[in-house]
Amino acid sequence: MNLSPFDHALTTYHKNSRAIPGEAFPDSLQWVLGDADCTLARKVIEGWDGYQITPLHSLDKLAGEIGIGHLYYKDESSRFGLGSFKALGGAYAVLRLLAKEISGVIGKPVSDTEIGDGTYAEVASRLTVVTATDGNHGRSVAWGARKFGCRCKIYIHAKVSKQRAQAMTDLGAEVIRVSGNYDASVHQVATDAATNNWFVVSDTSYAGYEDLPRQVMAGYSVMTSEIIEQLQQHAPLTHVFVQGGVGGLAGAVCGQLWREFGRQRPRFTVVEPERADCLFQSALRGRPTVVDIKKETMMAGLSCGEVSPLAWNILDTGCDDFMTVSDDLVAPSMRQLSCGGDDPAIVAGESAVAGLAGLLAARRSPKLTGALGLDENSRVLVIGTEGATDPEIYRSIVGRSAAEILVNDL
Ligand SMILES: Cc1ncc(COP(=O)(O)O)c(C=O)c1O
Repeated sequence: MNLSPFDHALTTYHKNSRAIPGEAFPDSLQWVLGDADCTLARKVIEGWDGYQITPLHSLDKLAGEIGIGHLYYKDESSRFGLGSFKALGGAYAVLRLLAKEISGVIGKPVSDTEIGDGTYAEVASRLTVVTATDGNHGRSVAWGARKFGCRCKIYIHAKVSKQRAQAMTDLGAEVIRVSGNYDASVHQVATDAATNNWFVVSDTSYAGYEDLPRQVMAGYSVMTSEIIEQLQQHAPLTHVFVQGGVGGLAGAVCGQLWREFGRQRPRFTVVEPERADCLFQSALRGRPTVVDIKKETMMAGLSCGEVSPLAWNILDTGCDDFMTVSDDLVAPSMRQLSCGGDDPAIVAGESAVAGLAGLLAARRSPKLTGALGLDENSRVLVIGTEGATDPEIYRSIVGRSAAEILVNDL
């Protein structure tokens, strides 16, 4: 294995002076990620066809190589056959939206089961959901729309790959490409939805729009619940490294670990691409801060310039450390995971590896290692948030297809 790119990796680091590691999950944050929402999301999603707990790999060889006690990798590449953890969020929010809107139309409460079995198919078919996406969230919304029988429009920006767009078309969505970046597509959706009476199902929040992003985060909480159960017989985690786009994922994971472990929660680090570091910049300034994305990062799912204020509520005081990593760490991290050998061979897409890349870079830097409090006893969790969601890009980076990697591992 050659980890040399990590030796002099371009990283930035910020210790969050606003973090309150010694405190229990504040009551004032319950509304963002509360027990009732998370419990309902779990009950509903577990009942969907094809639900399976995704693997939590223990990468013992890699942990040994970087000199930590344990490295756990939550592998979301197989989630509902959609290839990323996002399958849990958007589709679930579509269901919550339909439950509310259909009840409004027929004038009485409707159950999730009735929506699922098509009792109100005719009403659902008249409703249109819409979202902006760089791929994975849109795929989840399109899948949810097909599953629950409403119409779906997906806005993508100039740089979203053709294969990622095709995956959403294949699920029956109308895909609309707009110029500009991800943030531009989010704004366009808000405008067009208001004009056309479409329902926005966004994974990011903005002023006056928080309810569905909250349900998206409740959907993600299913993944963290699985992790907590999978680690039940293990010594507690000391560190978690999670990648950030708008922060919904990081906020959901951080919040749930905080709720579960209170003052004993693991140290939480958000890792972003240096080209899209809105969470990092927000932490520096102590408030949500917009960054202008000048050049797209190859970590397409993380290419966001505006934080989700909803998620920021949690990360502001729940996230201990913020890091950025450069794009040149992505390919070596993906190849590292694909190697197999003593550790399982893992298919990880470009946006899946930022957390791992941050950890690997930190272990090569005594300064960062010290700042993050990592040592040979650390028990670290990273989340492999996607598989080969664009198979061509994956093959061009790793040199083999996802299927070849998995076959060789048998
Ligand atoms: C694969 C992958 N990982 C991580 C993220 C980051 O999630 P969030 O935007 O909620 O921070 C995304 C977002 O689209 C993603 O697609």
